[in-house]
Amino acid sequence: MSAPLAALSPDSAIVAILYILSFSLFIYGLKLGTHPTSARRGNLVAAVGMAIAVATTLGLKGIGNWGIIIAGILVGTIIGAVASKRVKMTEMPQMVALYNGLGGGAIALIAWAEYRHWVHQGEVLKDEVSNLLTIHSGIPGGAITSLEGPSVPLEVMIPTLLAMIVGSISFWGSNVAFGKLQELIPSQPMGLPGQKIINGVLLLALIAGCVVLGMNAEYMDLNQPLFILMLVGAAVLGVMVVMPIGGADMPVVISLLNAFTGLSAAAAGIALDNTALIVAGTLVGSSGTILTLEMATAMNRSVANILFAGFGSPATGGGGDQEQRPYRSMNAQDAAIQLAYADSVVIVPGYGLAVAQAQHAVKEMADELNKKGVTVNYAIHPVAGRMPGHMNVLLAEADVPYEQLKEMDEINPDLPQTDVCVVIGANDVTNPAAKTDESSPIYGMPIIEVDEAQQVLVLKRSMSAGFAGIDNDLFYNEKTAMVFGDAKGTVQDIVTELGNL
Ligand code: TAP
Repeated sequence: MSAPLAALSPDSAIVAILYILSFSLFIYGLKLGTHPTSARRGNLVAAVGMAIAVATTLGLKGIGNWGIIIAGILVGTIIGAVASKRVKMTEMPQMVALYNGLGGGAIALIAWAEYRHWVHQGEVLKDEVSNLLTIHSGIPGGAITSLEGPSVPLEVMIPTLLAMIVGSISFWGSNVAFGKLQELIPSQPMGLPGQKIINGVLLLALIAGCVVLGMNAEYMDLNQPLFILMLVGAAVLGVMVVMPIGGADMPVVISLLNAFTGLSAAAAGIALDNTALIVAGTLVGSSGTILTLEMATAMNRSVANILFAGFGSPATGGGGDQEQRPYRSMNAQDAAIQLAYADSVVIVPGYGLAVAQAQHAVKEMADELNKKGVTVNYAIHPVAGRMPGHMNVLLAEADVPYEQLKEMDEINPDLPQTDVCVVIGANDVTNPAAKTDESSPIYGMPIIEVDEAQQVLVLKRSMSAGFAGIDNDLFYNEKTAMVFGDAKGTVQDIVTELGNL
């Protein structure tokens, strides 16, 4: 099938204008994405930018088989549409991992296609020379099989190799991350003895392979097996790097792999001389890097610690023997009375709220309290839950007004004047040990300073630890009362009791 549009030259002004328009929309979309009220619009704006970039690229000269392209677009659209409707909010991290992996895989394949393009150029050149020799000197063409192909410029070769290696690492690493989060493979860290040395050797071998390919750029056909071997080597490295990381650290790893995919896309853009791909890849790479660093900072850990320390695994987290200390507990009825008599209430949501899907019940509780003249706000910790913006997304789904969502730094100064803090399925993000206990693994992590409030209610199922696997002094504070049970059920009971008051 041939191109249905008049083919555009990649160097034409119209292509440059359309690409500038598309990546301006990406940047504007990102800007809108920084606030919950405009984030949805930001997605749409960036999607329009992407549609313009794709349409422009499809209009370029030399686009291949239209039948395959349309079939690919159809299959991708159907899978994407169905998945976006079906995926649960708690499954969002693995969906991002899967999509990110596909991006990395596509880039690795583009790099391979680019390599094959140069091999093909070499074969064409050889055929031409061979024909000329046969015509002019009678020497049979077969005699020149060792002729050099066209030498691929290094400014094309280097980004092609980078795109292949980083894209392949990102594809396989993201698939392992997906498998762990979806529990298709065990989520605990798994590694071989001397794993870091093996990874280091693999990385060095890949760099050496790049040098060999770069120095022999005129023998692309002979070196193709080495290129394929390196593609496989990068795949093994991607698997080996992510396997030893615990499932709970995966959101940070996914964000890092996302940055890798962006980097590989930008490299592919340089190799293909495609401005839109360079800009889009750079945006993904830089925003993924910023997000990774922000998450690591909010967890008070370095990226290296997340990648290499195996923290967040069942071996180091998730509970264990805990000291028996006295604590206070109360039922939903008493909790409702305490809340109804407060002037100000701050709700601190965490991972348990997402697990219990308690967001709608929480909104109902806030509405009941508002009816009784109680002011309700929500304190949002940057790494509450298991993915960036997890709590914002959940509460937005329940139509909680955005102005009631307060960032940690904004709400902390108000907490000493707050009558009741209701901690719902949150643990680590409220643990005072982060401020006071230098030996704690979370020491230095900024927290929601719930212990400063007048009274605290903690809604969770047991005294178990959270992600960091450590006990929380807040639960034993004399101001605190534990209200045990699944967060959704407990909040619904409180709503019923509030209605009876
Ligand atoms: P956690 O410290 O993990 O605590 C969640 C608590 O929810 C648990 O203690 C659990 O106690 C309770 N829970 C679980 N299911 C529940 C249910 N159905 N009903 C009621 N409670 C339930 O959560 P957090 O305070 O949100 O902190 C997040 C942690 O994840 C931090 O350590 C952070 O560093 C880490 N992390 C975050 C991210 C991002 S980007 N958000 C990424 C990676 C890691 P019970 O079992 O007793 O109910």
